[in-house]
Formats: sequence, C-alpha cells, structure tokens
Amino acid sequence: MLITFEGIDGSGKSTQARKLYEYLINSGYKASLYRDPGGTELAERIRELILDFDVNPITELLLFETARSSLVWERVFPDLKEGRIVILDRFIDSTVAYQGYGREINLGTVSILNHIAIRGRKPDITFLLNVPLDVALTRVGQKRTRFENGEYLRKVRDAYILIAHQEKERIVLLDGTRNEDEVFMEVLKLLKERLGLDLLKC
Ligand code: ADP
Ligand code: TYD
Repeated sequence: MLITFEGIDGSGKSTQARKLYEYLINSGYKASLYRDPGGTELAERIRELILDFDVNPITELLLFETARSSLVWERVFPDLKEGRIVILDRFIDSTVAYQGYGREINLGTVSILNHIAIRGRKPDITFLLNVPLDVALTRVGQKRTRFENGEYLRKVRDAYILIAHQEKERIVLLDGTRNEDEVFMEVLKLLKERLGLDLLKC
C-alpha cells in the first residue's frame, strides 16, 4: 500500500506522515517513510542541488523526476514487494502543482515524466492538507526557500485544490487548520473507509 501526503509548505504534511508511520510501527505493521525528493543517497544529493541552485523550470523538473525515479526504484518498489506500507512526504502531485501549474510547464510533459519516474504506480491514497496561505507562511516562519514565496505558493495551493477535484477517487482534501490530532483521526478514518485498513482498533 502506497500512501502519500501533499500540500503547500507549512500545511503539516511531514507532521502527519510521521504520525502515521509511528502509529503503524507501534501497531505492528511493516512500514517505511520517505520524503520526496530523498530516500536514497542520490536523491538526497539532488535535493540539496535543487535547493541550492536557482535553475530554469525544465532543469528543475528533470531533477525532481530523477530523484523520484531513484526513490521509487531503490526504495518504494522493493518495500512494497516486501509487503510494507510505504508513506511518502510529497510525490507526483507536488510536481504537477509546483512545476506544472506553478512554473507553467506543459501539464502533458509533467504527466509523462511523472509516469516514467513511477512506472505508472500511483498512490493508493493521497492526503492533501489544505490550509490558507497565511497560516502556511506563519508556520514556515522566516526560514523560507525559493519555493516558499507568497505569490508562487498561492498558485500552487489553487492548483492542488484543482487536482484534488480532478482525482476524487484517489486524493482526499483535508482541512489542515485543525489541530494535529484531529487531522490524524480523520486520516485513520479515511484509511479504513477507503482502503479497509482498520487501524483504530489497534
Ligand atoms: P510541511 O511538511 O507541510 O511543510 P510540517 O509538518 O513540517 O509542514 O509543519 C510545519 C510547522 O507547523 C511545524 O512547526 C509543525 O509543528 C506545525 N504544525 C504541523 N501541523 C500543525 C497543525 N495541525 N496545527 C498547528 N501547527 C502545526
Ligand atoms: P520540502 O523540503 O519537502 O518542503 P517542505 O518540508 O517545506 O514541505 O520540499 C522542498 C521544496 O521542493 C518544496 O518547497 C516543494 C518543492 N517541490 C517541487 O517544487 N516539486 C516537486 O516535485 C517536489 C517533490 C517538491
């Protein structure tokens, strides 16, 4: 089972991804948690490059996809084969929102590269944490990267909501302004309703 968390920076994705990972491990499941870009040494290095260099949009897109294919081939596929539940902090929808809608790269191009990087293995469920821009920016604080400026993030946030409406069977839009535990209880409830993963009784 492949579960992803998405949302703009400061939406609370990493917090929820970690909570779910710890909950699964404590409940006796075999689970893995990776961040995208990241998860392998190569992908972690690419992540640093992306954050350090202000590259053109296509180069940026290709770097994200290269990192992703490394994560998918070297970690996600083997883990899924072993029967692990794999949790990802960001994945394909980030690229559609940030590079497709945000940087205005052709959406067909983004979709093809996403498809190649993940070999068509889409997540079984995607939790999209939705928070207003001001809440996200307050949570991020002063430590902003080049991805975290207000105007750009507004486009990305709108894009995420659009993507969620287009893929309702996979993507669940969650109100991320509630406290961490309330959001997490909804995550558990939805995993039961949509995937039959009954964690509440654990
Ligand atoms: P993201 O991974 O989406 O950038 P994080 O999970 O790292 O977001 O959270 C960003 C900041 O907001 C952290 O300081 C975290 O403790 C805080 N935070 C996360 N979830 C919530 C929440 N539901 N309510 C209030 N603050 C939160
Ligand atoms: P990350 O550090 O995980 O962001 P945060 O923890 O703040 O949510 O990701 C680094 C940045 O990379 C983030 O601002 C979003 C951006 N990003 C893209 O632009 N495209 C992508 O495909 C991915 C995965 C991330």
